[in-house]
Amino acid sequence: MKTKAAVLRGTGQDWEVTELDLDPPKAGELLIRYVAAGLCHSDEHLRHGDLPAQFPVVGGHEGAGIVEEVGPGVTEYAPGDHVICSFLPVCGHCRWCSTGKSNLCDLGATILVGCLPDGTYRFHEGGQDLGGMCMLGTFSERAVISQYSAIKVDPDLPLDKVVLIGCGVPTGFGSAVHAADTQPGDTIAIYGIGGIGINAVQGAALAGARNVVAIDPLANKREMAEKLGATHSAGTAEEAQQLITELTRGVGADKAIVTVGIVDSEVVTNAFHAIRKGGTVVVTGLADPTKNTIELPGALLTLFEKRIQGSLFGSGDPFHDIPRMVELYQSGDLKLDELITTTYSLDQINQGYQDLLDGKNIRGVIRYTD
Ligand SMILES: NC(=O)c1ccc[n+]([C@@H]2O[C@H](COP(=O)([O-])OP(=O)(O)OC[C@H]3O[C@@H](n4cnc5c(N)ncnc54)[C@H](O)[C@@H]3O)[C@@H](O)[C@H]2O)c1
Ligand SMILES: [Zn+2]
Ligand SMILES: [Zn+2]
Repeated sequence: MKTKAAVLRGTGQDWEVTELDLDPPKAGELLIRYVAAGLCHSDEHLRHGDLPAQFPVVGGHEGAGIVEEVGPGVTEYAPGDHVICSFLPVCGHCRWCSTGKSNLCDLGATILVGCLPDGTYRFHEGGQDLGGMCMLGTFSERAVISQYSAIKVDPDLPLDKVVLIGCGVPTGFGSAVHAADTQPGDTIAIYGIGGIGINAVQGAALAGARNVVAIDPLANKREMAEKLGATHSAGTAEEAQQLITELTRGVGADKAIVTVGIVDSEVVTNAFHAIRKGGTVVVTGLADPTKNTIELPGALLTLFEKRIQGSLFGSGDPFHDIPRMVELYQSGDLKLDELITTTYSLDQINQGYQDLLDGKNIRGVIRYTD
């Protein structure tokens, strides 16, 4: 069948909305009609050259939709099922999956190549194969994905809102709850309030932090953070350092979480100096993997027993965390509607990413029409 998709053909180029050929699902796969796709900074990294990609690629790794067809051997999904896609597949059997670290599933090895687990592709253009970002390619009206990438949800949920639970919500929330292990009474500093950071704010607040300090140069971001659980905000790291020193009587923040769009040595160093002895800096934001973005005074790491912790998918288990976050949304504890600043059509995708770069959106979302 044919599908309309936003394709990136090389670093620095714009997204091109074009028609592709899509194969039917093979064994263990699902044909999905996406209802919505979130505009995460990670796809912008592909365009900007901060994440290595295999071009051309169908973008998009935050998605929710409806199963239209299932491949041979699929027993747990049926046409009509509503699903949220996980940007990391979970096989359930590898060393990582079987020890409660399914965010590190071995099948994640090819998420930037974008082929399916059997190593082949379902998107094609004039005989050429195209991968889908994170094996999903949510910037396409339809895609064929692995059943390991789909979490079934109640059919009455608004898929154009819960779409955020495919990446931004579990990544940010889990960065605070799992990776930072926020405890009641903690002081948590969060650097960068985009689609990821705002959910670290929500996670830290729900986990019982006493002080949640949101740091972002943009006033609209700080305002939204204060609406959704931040007790304080700061426009610069220096202001934040002063605030944290006052709030903790000179002790320092228990944990700091780095969710800026492009991580650099400066922001990690600021976070490192903001935490107390024995505290943790969680690094969730990404940058060019060939660059050194963490340069720290090692003696202080040793003498103060500080920790630096990377976090992928919020260090959680997608098949456990995604349903849990859906329930938190249903109970009103986790806000999603408020996070969606602007909705776009697929044809407006370049405008959506320009708005992300201009700092206008907490999260932009593509809404597909049937
Ligand atoms: N580890 C993971 O599993 C994972 C998953 C998804 C996204 N990410 C990464 O997380 C990062 C954030 O993604 P996003 O979609 O929220 O991006 P975004 O562009 O929506 O938000 C980034 C925010 O950081 C702010 N910022 C930039 N520099 C800053 C600084 N020095 N101090 C404070 N704030 C600063 C910006 O103003 C913006 O509000 C990206 O690098 C993305 O690739 C990681
Ligand atoms: Zn993402
Ligand atoms: Zn696995």
